[in-house]
Amino acid sequence: MVSTSTQIAGFAFDNCLMNAAGVACMTKEELAEVKGSAAGTFVTKTATLEFRQGNPEPRYQDVPLGSINSMGLPNNGLDYYLDYLLELQESEPNRTFFLSLVGMSPEETHTILKKVQVSDFKGITELNLSCPNVPGKPQIAYDFETTEKILSEVFAYFTKPLGIKLPPYFDIVHFDQAAAIFNKYPLKFVNCVNSIGNGLYIEDESVVIRPKNGFGGIGGQYIKPTALANVHAFYQRLKPEIQIIGTGGVLTGRDAFEHILCGASMVQVGTTLHKEGVAAFERITSELKDIMEEKGYESLEDFRGKLKYIEE
Ligand SMILES: Cc1cc2nc3c(=O)[nH]c(=O)nc-3n(C[C@H](O)[C@H](O)[C@H](O)COP(=O)(O)O)c2cc1C
Repeated sequence: MVSTSTQIAGFAFDNCLMNAAGVACMTKEELAEVKGSAAGTFVTKTATLEFRQGNPEPRYQDVPLGSINSMGLPNNGLDYYLDYLLELQESEPNRTFFLSLVGMSPEETHTILKKVQVSDFKGITELNLSCPNVPGKPQIAYDFETTEKILSEVFAYFTKPLGIKLPPYFDIVHFDQAAAIFNKYPLKFVNCVNSIGNGLYIEDESVVIRPKNGFGGIGGQYIKPTALANVHAFYQRLKPEIQIIGTGGVLTGRDAFEHILCGASMVQVGTTLHKEGVAAFERITSELKDIMEEKGYESLEDFRGKLKYIEE
């Protein structure tokens, strides 16, 4: 019997596939649809303290090899997602779900995390570090000083299971520096990767999204090699207690298989879910199981992290 079940932070999930934050997770209705699908769990849209309208439309565009977006973090505010998760804890006590969040400033991030800390929420929190924080500074995770400051402050009061969502890094020294920081903290996971930032897609003579004169985050097929490199680089560098969630460019069971081979314990689907709907989970799961069966693997442990290198 082939199983795609997995564990994150000690919680069990019957499938290793789930949505990526920002796709099919803005409203309770969308979250319920993911919950009722073949996905193992869901993560909410990244919540800020208050409701946000986000950027003017068009702000997302499907393109042949993926997607481009500059959403501007539209969301219903922390309480909306937290209340729903608390309801689910009552009605479905045997399942665990993810809450994604970030503040628009370090102060707001702490306010939000303190609210989660004192709430009855028993699930997993994902802090989105691939978000702008202070005007004039890069997104949090590209500013190692700010990243370290935030993590040291957060772990002074936050004792619930916490992981971080990271943007892609492109330099070996950055992998080393980032991993050295993450290894100092009791993180449960890192999620690699968020969109590749600030791409530009052109049709005829024009950009395809309105915000930022067309600059936007790239997802889908374009980003799989970068996503796999980030998953594997952190798998090699992080202490074993910090698990990896693989995100980026998952269209098929083969893509999910490669993320797991690179070290992922859970695999998230963004652009493909946007294009195909929740039926994508069943299709990708069955493709992944077919590959496992063909190779004689019964569980993810049989091949997780076992990427082969070409010997000297
Ligand atoms: C429309 C859209 C909204 C997104 N919003 C968020 C978000 O709120 N928080 C987050 O951590 N990532 C967000 N992402 C990034 C995705 O979670 C994912 O990391 C990225 O799209 C790469 O995966 P993919 O290649 O499967 O699309 C968003 C992506 C898209 C396409």
